[in-house]
Amino acid sequence: MNILLTGAAGQLGQELLPRISPLGRVTLADRVAVPGKAETLKLDLGDLNRVEIMLNRLRPDVIVNAAAYTAVDLAEDNASVAFRVNSELPGCLARWSKRNDRLLLHYSTDYIFNGESDRPYIEQDLAVPLGVYGESKLEGERAITSSLCRHVILRTSWVYSGHGNNFVLTMLRLARERPELSIVSDQKGCPTWARNLAGVTAKVMAGLLSDSDERPASGIYHYCDGDAVTWYEFARTIFSIAVEAGILDRMPEMESVLTSGFPQKAKRPLFSVLDTTKIRREFGIEPAGMRQSLQSCIKEMAENESR
Ligand SMILES: NC(=O)c1ccc[n+]([C@@H]2O[C@H](COP(=O)([O-])OP(=O)(O)OC[C@H]3O[C@@H](n4cnc5c(N)ncnc54)[C@H](OP(=O)(O)O)[C@@H]3O)[C@@H](O)[C@H]2O)c1
Repeated sequence: MNILLTGAAGQLGQELLPRISPLGRVTLADRVAVPGKAETLKLDLGDLNRVEIMLNRLRPDVIVNAAAYTAVDLAEDNASVAFRVNSELPGCLARWSKRNDRLLLHYSTDYIFNGESDRPYIEQDLAVPLGVYGESKLEGERAITSSLCRHVILRTSWVYSGHGNNFVLTMLRLARERPELSIVSDQKGCPTWARNLAGVTAKVMAGLLSDSDERPASGIYHYCDGDAVTWYEFARTIFSIAVEAGILDRMPEMESVLTSGFPQKAKRPLFSVLDTTKIRREFGIEPAGMRQSLQSCIKEMAENESR
């Protein structure tokens, strides 16, 4: 089976490669090469003509699209780029998949919701994004579903890994640079280790491709790791684990601030916890614990730093 992995050099993309490789021959595509993988196809995935040419040449059986424009604040001033990558690219992949009867796996975000719910969001809840990033991702979901191709869309939240741009690495950098940090304490969500999401993707893909599969042909599923926290609580957990692991000398002083006192270009949902009942029920997937996942991620960073 031929699998095309777009966005292969991103946080999730790099975690996906080893986990989906047992399922088929994986071709990597991104703007830059995946570290250590010179064979990566390097192209602008926003150039849909080139994407079509690539698809017609490779003719993948499955496309896993981890490419996205994920800079939430910058998206406010770069809407056309965000929409090209987050909605036009998935639309193009979906139409090609429909024409050629192939499977598309794609990722979306908790930021399609406005955060006003008083319970974790389920897949059918009304999506009302607060910013350009969320709008562009929602548009991407709609482009896929309306194409009628066979697809799975995994909505996730607060993704981190040992590489790329994410809250864990930003907090660790800031804690080394500054004695005191101000951290938002009124936004709640579920941090998700990219590695766990990659493992979930492999399990979902294997399930869908098995002959005995009786699940619906397509669907949207929520997956995030298991514990809902505020950014403040998440930061405190990051620091305590990093001190234990020896990659941070001491806990920094932490001041909790409200979103209203921490202006950012894009508005964010105050509550974006995702309900994972559907993926548990249909795929038997049990979300990983937040603390244990973070410990594993930081332990690996510590080992890499000591090499
Ligand atoms: N990060 C989060 O907190 C979060 C939360 C919820 C959902 N998600 C979703 O999860 C998925 C994976 O996110 P991630 O955190 O792994 O994102 P990421 O680290 O930003 O990776 C995305 C990859 O796509 C590449 N890409 C973007 N535009 C491109 C273009 N025009 N041509 C070629 N490559 C391009 C990026 O390259 P450049 O870096 O060079 O642009 C990057 O390597 C996305 O669908 C995202 O929306 C993420």
